[in-house]
Amino acid sequence: MQAPLVDNAAPFVCKLANVSFAYPPPHRVVALSDVSFEVGQGESVALCGPSGSGKSTLLALLGMLDVPTSGEYLFGGLSAADLGPEKRNHLRARHVGFVFQAFHLIAGRNVIDNVAASLLYIERNRGLRERRARECIDLVGLGHRCWHHPNELSGGERQRVAIARALAVGPSLILADEPTGKLDSATGQAILQLLRDSSEAGLVIATHDAAVAQTLDRTVTMCDGKIQSSG
Ligand SMILES: Nc1ncnc2c1ncn2[C@@H]1O[C@H](COP(=O)(O)OP(=O)(O)O)[C@@H](O)[C@H]1O
Ligand SMILES: [Mg+2]
Repeated sequence: MQAPLVDNAAPFVCKLANVSFAYPPPHRVVALSDVSFEVGQGESVALCGPSGSGKSTLLALLGMLDVPTSGEYLFGGLSAADLGPEKRNHLRARHVGFVFQAFHLIAGRNVIDNVAASLLYIERNRGLRERRARECIDLVGLGHRCWHHPNELSGGERQRVAIARALAVGPSLILADEPTGKLDSATGQAILQLLRDSSEAGLVIATHDAAVAQTLDRTVTMCDGKIQSSG
């Protein structure tokens, strides 16, 4: 189902060049200063650093939920700021999968509905949405839980549903914010392996857990909104 990224010639999924970001008034917190890095196709990057260092803000920019205050963010070779909100929303729905620490599943809806919801934007046919949802649910090993509601699942199973939802669109970029933070370490390792193995997309995981970071291709360490080290 994966749609090609807009500019196939770009050697990266996305790229930040000297990006700064300040939250708007009244707080005007400068959350990112002069951040530059890129994510290659199929590359996995750990985003490390203490609480408040800017990891979640950076993920929001990578997912085009916000745009830089200065500097440039390229997604698939296109400048996010130039695209405008509608095109950004469209690109996000088709190409970006989010996984959060708190899962963010729809209460009162079963697993299939939760996963199929991510396809509403891009597939009109409900039967095809559900078929694709089932494929992804099988992929994360939850085929036997399709009719459960989120409150009828364990924490690890909920995160698997969130991953199935993120994978359903065939994303070019998966962004995960502390995805193992609420899970015991064995379950967390399994979730991590699933994220690494189940997609050829670029993967960025914000984590304060060095053990998580070690399993990815590369680590970018943040401090006070700046990149402290990268490699
Ligand atoms: N919505 C917001 N409005 C104003 N300041 C914010 C907002 N969200 C986060 N911040 C501030 O931006 C900085 C970076 O926060 P965040 O990106 O959440 O860090 P991390 O994810 O590394 O803990 C912090 O100083 C935080 O207080
Ligand atoms: Mg955070």
